[in-house]
Amino acid sequence: MHKSWLTILSGLFVLAFFSSSTIALADAEEGEKLFKKRCGSCHSTEAGKHKNGPSLAGIIGRKAGSTDFAKYKGLKGSDVVWDAQNMDQFLANPKKFVGAKTMAYKLKKEDERALIVAYMQTLK
Ligand code: HEC
Repeated sequence: MHKSWLTILSGLFVLAFFSSSTIALADAEEGEKLFKKRCGSCHSTEAGKHKNGPSLAGIIGRKAGSTDFAKYKGLKGSDVVWDAQNMDQFLANPKKFVGAKTMAYKLKKEDERALIVAYMQTLK
């Protein structure tokens, strides 16, 4: 009796674990499509390849304004280290976040920001 409950319980844990990682993967894939549509004109995800905006290779976990992109505005010399939370704030309203002239593009839709940030976390 006890044993079968344990089996069911551990089965549930395994199920929960796999479905949450599948969801994260699906979000990142959805986010990649949105990223291409909304951000791809100004940002590449290849290291050292800049467009109107800096490359976003390895963006989560790195210091803001820290690539060799020549046209940084407000982010240059920033003390911010990008994580999922401050990235969401920045994308929602870059000007408010930076407090200076910066990226002009604002992404108001919260669900789109969540998907794009999920994708950005996969960028090496
Ligand atoms: C019209 C061009 C343009 C678009 C569209 C755009 N950006 Fe930017 N982005 C910039 C510029 C220019 C900067 C540099 C801002 C600064 O120096 O203050 C920047 C900076 C950034 C940074 C900081 C990079 C670093 O090195 O710290 C991130 C992250 C970012 N953008 C993400 C995005 C995402 C995600 C999108 C789509 C939702 C997007 N951007 C859309 C032009 C753009």
